[in-house]
Amino acid sequence: MSKHSIAVLAGDGIGPEVMEQALRALSVVSSKYDFELAYKEYPVGGFAIDTCGEALPKETLAGCEAADAILFGSIGGPKWDTLPLDLRPERAALLKLRSHFDLFSNLRPAKIYESLAHLSPLRPDIAKNNVDVLVVRELTSGIYFGQPKGIEGEGEQTNAFDTMRYSKAEIRRIAKTAFIAASKRKNKVTSVDKANVLVTSRLWREIVEEVATDYPDIELEHLYIDNATMQLVANPGQFDVMLCSNLFGDIVSDECAMITGSMGLLPSASINEAGFGMFEPAGGSAPDIAGLGIANPVAQILSASMMLRHSLNLTEAADCIDNAVLKTLSDGVLTGELLPADQKQNAKSTQDVGDYIISQLSEH
Ligand code: NAD
Ligand code: IPM
Ligand code: MN
Repeated sequence: MSKHSIAVLAGDGIGPEVMEQALRALSVVSSKYDFELAYKEYPVGGFAIDTCGEALPKETLAGCEAADAILFGSIGGPKWDTLPLDLRPERAALLKLRSHFDLFSNLRPAKIYESLAHLSPLRPDIAKNNVDVLVVRELTSGIYFGQPKGIEGEGEQTNAFDTMRYSKAEIRRIAKTAFIAASKRKNKVTSVDKANVLVTSRLWREIVEEVATDYPDIELEHLYIDNATMQLVANPGQFDVMLCSNLFGDIVSDECAMITGSMGLLPSASINEAGFGMFEPAGGSAPDIAGLGIANPVAQILSASMMLRHSLNLTEAADCIDNAVLKTLSDGVLTGELLPADQKQNAKSTQDVGDYIISQLSEH
């Protein structure tokens, strides 16, 4: 029996609510497929600020270092929004974890299954047109991390600045990830940039072109970010892999989540060169619905499945979870944000959806 250690960082807002359901699902598949997951839970984000005085306590980081993978919930919320940027949960915990482990490769898969096309806010003829997009987002560089960043001057002359910066090596490694991913999918990479304006995007395009020569069977196209976000709602079926820098990938992936129906459906994997990864929903702590028991647990559960697939090589168990989720959604067991206004009375709770997925796990 294989045994794996998992650092569980549930975080803030809906994080703990949806994490509970993901851990239940993992426990069912671990018995079914005969492997053992040893979980250790650690404080992170706003909860860690309140209880330990900092967003990423030393014990949490050490626990992540000792683990085979990190399962992350979400962090942040209004309570901590007024803290200086460097102390806020987002920078001090999430971005710190990404850079500490060099998790440069962020995979965010968004698919509209034909049986679930009615969940999309897009017109049915658009939603039904083979929408299956993988956003490959560079996660440890770009404007999020470029130096200098700061604020200076006084009064109306106050200037705030961030630096958008990419090295050739950083672009090359994420571009390779995108081409390799496309070679296992529909053989197309759309690189998203703003090369008509930004110097970083010029270099981005140049290096992506260079990497493309190693993958002659893969079609490469370049789109400007403004056009790409427009094309995503006009005809998302045209895309396969969307290769994005850090900020553009952040924006494009929220849009991808919503075209499948909800922020609460999109999982993500953030992986380094050694294959070590952190797995988390693409959405946030959803303070507007936190504590109500109505958050959609699917993105967290699918993130757990991505962890089994990408970090632990437990493919059968991952497939089992994915199939159970698909069946649950197809059977109409849905949280409220997926339902039109006149059907909200049919909404299921976080726990109901978790229960239904668990019941399907034994059958798939
Ligand atoms: P958000 O993703 O938390 O919420 C945006 C909208 O999507 C809200 O209406 C919310 O209710 C809905 N939503 C998100 N997840 C859902 C789910 N599972 N089920 C149902 N509805 C869901 O974005 P925001 O409101 O801009 O950010 C809130 C906080 O989360 C901020 O502090 C932000 O920095 C943080 N955040 C954290 C992460 C992370 O931890 N990975 C990601 C994004 C945002
Ligand atoms: C995401 C989130 C984070 C990001 C925030 C919370 C720092 O929006 O994972 O998409 O911008 O990367
Ligand atoms: Mn985001």
